[in-house]
Amino acid sequence: MPASVIDGKVIAAKLREDVAAEVARLKRDHDLAPGLAVVLIGSDPASEVYVGSKTKQTLAAGMNSFEHKLAADTPQAEVLALIDRLNRDSAVHGILVQLPLPKGLDANTIVNAIDPAKDVDGLHPVNAGRLASGLPALTPCTPLGCIILAKTVHASLEGMNAIVLGRSNLVGRPLVQLLLNENATVTIAHSRTRDLPALCREADLVFAAVGRPEMVKRDWIKPGATVIDVGINRLPGEGGKSRLVGDVAYNEAMEVAGAVTPVPGGVGQMTVACLLVNTVRAACAIHK
Ligand code: GUN
Repeated sequence: MPASVIDGKVIAAKLREDVAAEVARLKRDHDLAPGLAVVLIGSDPASEVYVGSKTKQTLAAGMNSFEHKLAADTPQAEVLALIDRLNRDSAVHGILVQLPLPKGLDANTIVNAIDPAKDVDGLHPVNAGRLASGLPALTPCTPLGCIILAKTVHASLEGMNAIVLGRSNLVGRPLVQLLLNENATVTIAHSRTRDLPALCREADLVFAAVGRPEMVKRDWIKPGATVIDVGINRLPGEGGKSRLVGDVAYNEAMEVAGAVTPVPGGVGQMTVACLLVNTVRAACAIHK
């Protein structure tokens, strides 16, 4: 029997609906309109698409959106001055600086300048540290989306063997912490891990976030496992067009796994929805 498909589109749409209802309630009962500022520096085409989608969905949820587009050669001091203004702007509850940044700008310095209370990406060391300490924190959106998707298959992740492939600050590391909070038993694997296929085959839950097209093959997957594919890789397709594939060989996974997220239509849909969730959370915490 083929695996079931975890439909990120439907799950994200429901999450956005819930956020819109909560925003309407905050406006009505507390005169609070959550606001998200997105800073895009340079003209990376993929980043422009992501930022466009973030703005559109922020507005659709009834929140205020503040888009700041800066030239690729903007001096770092100017970026820091903008962040300082946004930190002090009471209409702004969430600040996101789209990554990657153009050459000449230091992502750590810029992310560290964001007020941790407005860090809806969950990338500030204060939020990363709080998450690692098991304290309440704003948490990165993609890992949050991964957990929500896994929990549509398993009401509880307690005691499950989970493997996280990849150790980035944006996905792998925070995902490990969120899985620990769910009482899963977590293995984190990376480019230096020995015998990755054998290790992966032990896992009830596989999270692939390495950015390598179709790396996870049929024989890496334990029969019945749940596979969450974070990868979004562009490969040459037919007629000169490109096609998107994940880090998992989807058709192979479908033959052996219990449930699989597609690419596109899986995790990607959840990231922006979780950004809206984080913005509402930040607005409520700041407003208190
Ligand atoms: N670039 C790709 N994904 C993300 C994300 O989740 N946040 C930010 N700020 N930049 C990204």
